Parts: sequence; structure tokens; C-alpha cells
Amino acid sequence: MTASSTSALPRFSRIVGTGSHLPSQRLSNTDLARELAERGIQTSDEWIVERTGIRARHFADAGVVCSDLAVAAARAALQAAGREAAAIDLIIVATSTPDMVFPSTACIVQQKLGVHGCPAFDVQAVCSGFIYALAVADALIRTGSARCALVIGSEVFSRLLDFNDRTTCVLFGDGAGAVVLEASNEPGLLASELHADGRHVGILCTPGTVAGGKAIGDPLLKMDGPAVFKLAVGVLEDAARAVLAKAGKTEADIDFLIPHQANIRIMQSTARKLKLGADKLVVTVDEHGNTSAASIPLALDVAVRDGRIRRGHRLLLEGVGGGFTWGAVLLEF
Ligand code: ACO
Repeated sequence: MTASSTSALPRFSRIVGTGSHLPSQRLSNTDLARELAERGIQTSDEWIVERTGIRARHFADAGVVCSDLAVAAARAALQAAGREAAAIDLIIVATSTPDMVFPSTACIVQQKLGVHGCPAFDVQAVCSGFIYALAVADALIRTGSARCALVIGSEVFSRLLDFNDRTTCVLFGDGAGAVVLEASNEPGLLASELHADGRHVGILCTPGTVAGGKAIGDPLLKMDGPAVFKLAVGVLEDAARAVLAKAGKTEADIDFLIPHQANIRIMQSTARKLKLGADKLVVTVDEHGNTSAASIPLALDVAVRDGRIRRGHRLLLEGVGGGFTWGAVLLEF
């Protein structure tokens, strides 16, 4: 990565292609409830749909790792953009479920794509990870440090789930989404907002770590769902209003809201507060569950490929997750 002269700096970074990938194993709520019942854990399709809007999720087979899903999504995004992997000069992977403690999943993705030498690193901001990664890539492009970035959200969250805890294991799924983000003088990312508040570390975490050759502490996901819910609803509205104000826009300028897909009730609450109709809210939580850092680029790709999102549409992307982290990006597609 080399900084170029300021006279050549692009005004914007712009998404030129999107892609996504879901593992083939799809579990409906009924399938999952049947498996949990064998462990003596009771849940139902009715409870899960009513509280979350989730109807199914995809789980990766044993042996499939985060970088496998990321590479499949990246290849789809490159194809949609009409770019070769060789054009990429920056790779950022947002994930909380990396292949290894180190090196980064981004370096493994780089190797699997057969491109060498460009910077590659992971961003760890849990479910806000893709928003963080997009904002960082945008900054690197607008300051001339990169021209064509792969920004990926990829997760195998199934590996962190405690299948004896019905309050969390029904919520999450695996998948990946990616965008190719390029320097452009056409809009582009218009504004971004990133926040964190480490006082809330304990309400959503996977507290274990690796030391002395062993997993130390509990390596499974813990969440105080109602506490997360309450915080999420407040910060998502704040982030949306702040990013609109920064870009000099209003709610009326939003064509589609693509929130982190955690819970339909949180998403509908944000849409209501922004006075956006149901047709402006992109929903994939029903079929994907919560795929953490992958959920926003997955939802974006679904809505691009089914023809809802077209060039020139203004999109509000927003995420919230463990940390506590949250953020938003307003962009013209
Ligand atoms: N099946 C059946 N019953 C259940 C289940 C289940 N899977 N899970 C919990 N219950 C029961 C509880 O035991 C409780 O029973 P009780 O009243 O007899 O004690 C009852 O249902 C209600 O439980 P609550 O936790 O109060 O349910 P709530 O309505 O709050 O919904 C949920 C829980 C869906 C987790 C919700 O709080 C939520 O969506 N929170 C936000 C999650 C989120 O947004 N995460 C985003 C970030 S994720 C990330 O960053 C990794």
C-alpha cells in the first residue's frame, strides 16, 4: 500500500459489485427444535418466529471454515463487478469466527484468491464488523492508500453456539457477504458513523481465550438478550440520524434500510422511527438468522440480485453488536 499524491485523490469510494454465500445445510426452526429436543431442550417454531422473525438458518459442515465462505462471497462480488482478483489492492474481513487465532482470515482469503502483496487484515467488531470494515476501506480509498478493496463479512457463528442454551442457539447462522469497493468521483459512500461502549462488554460475549495450549474460560456465546435489545433499539436510531445529518440528508432520502439482521422487532422499530415503510426495509433474518458481521452484506446482495436495489438508490446500512459496538453508513449505490 502506497500513498499517492493528493491531487489524484478520489472524491468517493463506491460499491461496484456485491456477492454472498450460504452453506448448503439449511435448518428450519422445526429441524433445529427436533435436534434440541434430543438434548432435552424445548423450543418451537412458533416461539422463534414470534420473538425474532427467524424461520431458518444455514450451518457450515464440519471442516468448512470462515475463509471458505468469505472466498465464495468474494468471488461472486468480483464476478458481479467484472473485476479480476488481481485488481484488488486491499482486503478487509470482518469476523468474530476467524479460521485461526492468527494469522488473520483476510491473509488466508488473499492466499486462496491467489493475490499477493496487498494489505489484508481482519476487523473485529462483532455484528457491527462490516460497517466498521466499510468505513475503514472508504477512508483508505479516499486518502489514496488503496483503489480497489474487497470488504467481506464472514462468519461460522454455529461454532460458538451453546446448544444447551435455547435463549441463544436458535438465533444465529453461518454465511458470508462481500463487496468490491472502488475509488470513484461519482457518489459513493456519503458518510459513516462508528461507535463503541466497552462498559457493556459483559452483555454479549464469548469470554474464553486460548492459553497454554488450551481453551481457557468458556468459549461459547453468552448474551443477555433483553439488555442487548434495549440498547440496540436506542443506538440504531441515534446512528441513523447522525449519519443522515453528516451527509446533509433526511429520512426521505433513504431508498432502502439494510440493518444488521438480528431480530425483526428491532429492525421494524428502527424503520418505524425513521418513518420508512415495510417496502424500504430489507429483511433476510427470516432465512439466514443472525449471521453477525455477514448479515448486512448478505442482505445487500440479496436485494441487489432480486432487482430491488439499483444504481443511484440511497442505502442506509447499520449494525450493532458485541462490544458494545454500533455504526451506520449512508451510501449511493
Ligand atoms: N424457545 C422457547 N422459549 C424460550 C426460548 C426458546 N428458544 N428462549 C427463551 N425462552 C423463554 C425464556 O426462558 C423466558 O421464559 P420465562 O418467561 O418462563 O422465564 C421467555 O422465553 C422470555 O425470554 P426473554 O429472554 O425475556 O425473551 P425476549 O422476548 O427478550 O426475546 C431475544 C429474547 C429474542 C433474544 C431478544 O431479547 C433479542 O432479540 N435480543 C437482542 C438480540 C440482538 O439483537 N443481538 C444483536 C447483536 S448479536 C451480536 O452482536 C453477536
